[in-house]
Amino acid sequence: ARVTPSASSLLDWYARQRRILPWRALPGQSADPYAVWLSEIMLQQTTVVTVMPYYERFLKRYPTVHDLAASPLQDVLSAWAGLGYYSRARNLHACATIVSARGGFPDTVEQLQALPGIGAYTARAIASIAFGVPVVPVDGNVERITARLHAMTEPLPQARRQLDKLAEHLNHDPDARRAPSDFTQALFDLGAGICTPRRPSCLVCPWRNPCKGHETGDPARFPVKAPR
Ligand code: ADE
Repeated sequence: ARVTPSASSLLDWYARQRRILPWRALPGQSADPYAVWLSEIMLQQTTVVTVMPYYERFLKRYPTVHDLAASPLQDVLSAWAGLGYYSRARNLHACATIVSARGGFPDTVEQLQALPGIGAYTARAIASIAFGVPVVPVDGNVERITARLHAMTEPLPQARRQLDKLAEHLNHDPDARRAPSDFTQALFDLGAGICTPRRPSCLVCPWRNPCKGHETGDPARFPVKAPR
């Protein structure tokens, strides 16, 4: 049976425990789509701690998507230097050019996903965080949380499609749909701080009940990896 944890428990936890991150809007304020997009692209292959100083410097140099679009690619590549995966910086510039020309970011998953450098995960992250679209971006954190909630014994990568569906169902809770931006970011914080890959902190987890992984006594074994 599908496990349906309470979105309001998670959102209450997040209201008390949310991380202060430079791309995050203060509670009650709306996020800048440009800032959210920039942070999500940087966070694709790089950790939060590494990204932070780059993000701050980059935003100072290019305060808006129009500044970024107007800059020569070479300058953008040098501002990116150190973050690696330079195709991200090339796509960043290509995307900024399109978005600047159309006057701003589109606000649907479909249109976002059509832009350079924006895949299924990033489109859902931007749509939910910046535009309040009730969708769940499934990254490694959300996969892990979902696999544990359901004590999913099917190994990755085969379990991925099923995990996507189960993650989508988290969003059927009306309390999640009322607060897509907070709900998405609460999942990130839960995965980063509580439902960690090794030794998860189930004792203080807002979703300990009804988590099936916790119930097994060995939640860290989920998601199960295929034998190699
Ligand atoms: N990882 C990916 N996106 C993130 C975000 N918006 N906040 C924290 N961690 C993240």
